[in-house]
Amino acid sequence: ESRLDQEAIRILKANDRGGFTIPTARLYPYQWNWDSAFAALGFAEFDRDRAWREIETLFEAQWPDGMLPHIVFRQNDPDYFPGPAIWQSNTEPPSSGHSQPPVTASVVLRMVQGGDASDLERARPLFAKMLAFHRWYHEMRDPDGTGLVGIVHPWESGRDNCPDWDIGMDRIAVPDDLGPYQRRDTEHIDPAERPSTAQYDRYLTIIKFGRECGWDHVEMARNGPFFMGDPGVQFILMRADRDLLRLAELLGETAAQEQIGRWLERASAGCQLLWNPEVNAFCARDLRTGEFSDGITSASMLAFYAGAGTDEQRAAMAVHAARILDQVAFGFPSFDPAHPRFEAKRYWRGPVWAIINFLIVDGLNEAGETQLAERIRDDTRRLVETAGFFEYFDPQSGEGIGGSDFTWTAAVHLVWGS
Ligand code: DGY
Repeated sequence: ESRLDQEAIRILKANDRGGFTIPTARLYPYQWNWDSAFAALGFAEFDRDRAWREIETLFEAQWPDGMLPHIVFRQNDPDYFPGPAIWQSNTEPPSSGHSQPPVTASVVLRMVQGGDASDLERARPLFAKMLAFHRWYHEMRDPDGTGLVGIVHPWESGRDNCPDWDIGMDRIAVPDDLGPYQRRDTEHIDPAERPSTAQYDRYLTIIKFGRECGWDHVEMARNGPFFMGDPGVQFILMRADRDLLRLAELLGETAAQEQIGRWLERASAGCQLLWNPEVNAFCARDLRTGEFSDGITSASMLAFYAGAGTDEQRAAMAVHAARILDQVAFGFPSFDPAHPRFEAKRYWRGPVWAIINFLIVDGLNEAGETQLAERIRDDTRRLVETAGFFEYFDPQSGEGIGGSDFTWTAAVHLVWGS
């Protein structure tokens, strides 16, 4: 074990709160959905039982309708805002009211494929829960059956303040009675590396709408303040459907296979709605107005991971990837550096995230784009070696920013090996 491996293991153990892992102390003191899934992959490298526990505790918070919420509040922690009193989920354990990118089935398949018969048995009771989660996405986030799922809050994308959401956020009217509130994130982290106040006003406006309609998901999708198509969630769901189908085969769950196959077929067609012909790339799109975002993001690059689009479209995406990588010292930036809205240090408006790199590299390798994949993997390795296990990194300077001792950055390092 190298020094960095030991450090990564230390971080996972330090962020373990007994069966679930927090992303980092103080800034994010609860269990987050996709952070937790990636934590499981990290644990699987040295403690398989603990890895499975992470997924099992996450699913303890699944809603009766199948939704897997984005934050699970097992205790009240004043270090974080907005906490359970703002969300009012009316569930046990309390949670937030929307979801996050559905990586769980892909993580579970990876743990099964890297394990033995006992891992397959551990996955068995999770299968119906994952199937219900995918059904929830396909039905509640795509009530018209277009094959493209929407997100009701930028936080549902996991890429909170990405310029992808600017067009949808600009259309949100902040009500007079939103009330005063106190952010906590900017007490832990330099405000220049976090979303703006105007964005937080809108994040809370969406939560107010959700709370007031009792988190009625169809109402959120049809009439909520925000509903956008996200290449990230769409592509991650497509890949997760494919991985869930493989799990169904391994587990002999024949009845589910046809259903998952239909979801996949519909989503493969639906993702074409995200192809922006002006930019010649997959982009976010406001599903209320049809308007496209005009920027290429790290999530656009997950087309490979999903096997989405035509050969021609993926070839165009590979050209964009090479161009973007040539503009930064470290890839892959969360937003196109050539775009005027790029900001090297502001959270999802430019910085590099190890976990997105992990997914991009997986997809690029599968698509045979091995040179691009190697470059991104090598950049990630250099970032961690020089800066440490930070939440995100400046793509120009390589500086580590946001939270430190970060769970999913440590997990990616362990999965990839030194
Ligand atoms: C935050 O609080 O910034 C989280 O990313 C929301 O999920």
